[in-house]
Amino acid sequence: MRTSSDSERGLVELARRVLPGGGFGNVAHETIIASGRGGRVWDVSGNEYVDYLLGSGPMLVGHAHPEVVEVIQQQVAKGTTFFANNALGIQLAAEITAAVPCAEKVRFVSTGSEADLYAMRIARAFTKRDKILKFEGGYHGMSDYGLMSLAPKRTANFPRPIADSAGIPSSVRDEMLVAPFNDLETVASLVREHARELAGIIVEPFQRLIAPRPGFLEGLREITSRNGLLLIFDEVVTGFRFAYGGAQSYYGVTPDLCTLGKAIGGGFPLAAVTGRADVMAHFDKSAVSEDAFVTQIGTLSGNPVAAAAGLKTLEILKRPGAYERIFQTGRALMEGYSEILRRARRKARVIGEAPLFDIVFTDREVRDYRSAQGDEATMKRCNALLRERGILKGESKYYVSLAHTEEDVAFTLDAFASAMDALDTAT
Ligand SMILES: Cc1ncc(COP(=O)(O)O)c(C=O)c1O
Repeated sequence: MRTSSDSERGLVELARRVLPGGGFGNVAHETIIASGRGGRVWDVSGNEYVDYLLGSGPMLVGHAHPEVVEVIQQQVAKGTTFFANNALGIQLAAEITAAVPCAEKVRFVSTGSEADLYAMRIARAFTKRDKILKFEGGYHGMSDYGLMSLAPKRTANFPRPIADSAGIPSSVRDEMLVAPFNDLETVASLVREHARELAGIIVEPFQRLIAPRPGFLEGLREITSRNGLLLIFDEVVTGFRFAYGGAQSYYGVTPDLCTLGKAIGGGFPLAAVTGRADVMAHFDKSAVSEDAFVTQIGTLSGNPVAAAAGLKTLEILKRPGAYERIFQTGRALMEGYSEILRRARRKARVIGEAPLFDIVFTDREVRDYRSAQGDEATMKRCNALLRERGILKGESKYYVSLAHTEEDVAFTLDAFASAMDALDTAT
């Protein structure tokens, strides 16, 4: 069982004094991570965890992969950022265009939030229309536009969005339309009604943990093409994770634009907007008229250390057997969890795809944001019990890495079975 040292308690106390809410705003604040290697991390008290948080996804080949560490160290010694073009960033862009079906040109930024913001902006510049349709529960970063109906606490009638944060001008709500995920009929009728105002549809092809129903992504492709709208896949999570070509190659539907992040930066701040050359041309002053140009600069864009880490991460993922292994590990966990839940007679479902899954404590079929709302209190208790037993994960999502071993899987299933036994008595 987890122990907490004086030094960890001291840091938690210091964090409470200097950070709002005592943390960086991401995950539970009482665990302070000191190091990671492969599929495991250690906190400052010395507790070891099998890590399914994976830094919220970037560490797809595992923490401190020796080959990634080597290239980072080489680059750090040569200088860490230049603002000017650098060879590693150019090579990473070339690798992305070779791998991702929609990617003809690449513009680097530092975070997924920025990538989504610019993808929506460039869609508006290309179509000369203002509105974007997104899906309830879909995550597209922290911009004013992205933070519409990500996690609404109350329900509104579609397509009216609900802002997820204070501080967002109310006028932004008028520029976004919201539809239920996996519901083509609603999308089709909204597009019929708003076709002349809509610049595009942004969607996580695999929304949080919800897989697209057969035909859903194909339907979005068809509706957007027919109406002259752009289809934007947010592949910040799924890019290079579901397949080397991302969810678009896994599900076989090619969007006009996609955003990438997490894995392509190998653990450093690097993300990208990529897509059709004629749309991406709006980032090029010499290719479009002055009023069609999308201004975009960023101090760390294409940073060479991040590009080195990203390139090496992609090289490792491209090796024969890498995805088979990630999928095998994920499937073993998902099947093991389902069996334990069945034996415990829990009203719960294991949902997702092998590289990215979780449990939802519900007996309903999960197809969209509303049906994905399970018993949150039980979920919280379950996650806390798992942390006590040496399993680290976020509130929702198990990220599976190439570095997780069979031993990690066996350890995790034992911990989960024990957590399920303890669940009813836990406070
Ligand atoms: C689908 C999706 N889009 C965008 C983002 C935002 O990325 P970042 O945290 O790098 O800004 C995230 C982050 O988790 C994400 O999951």
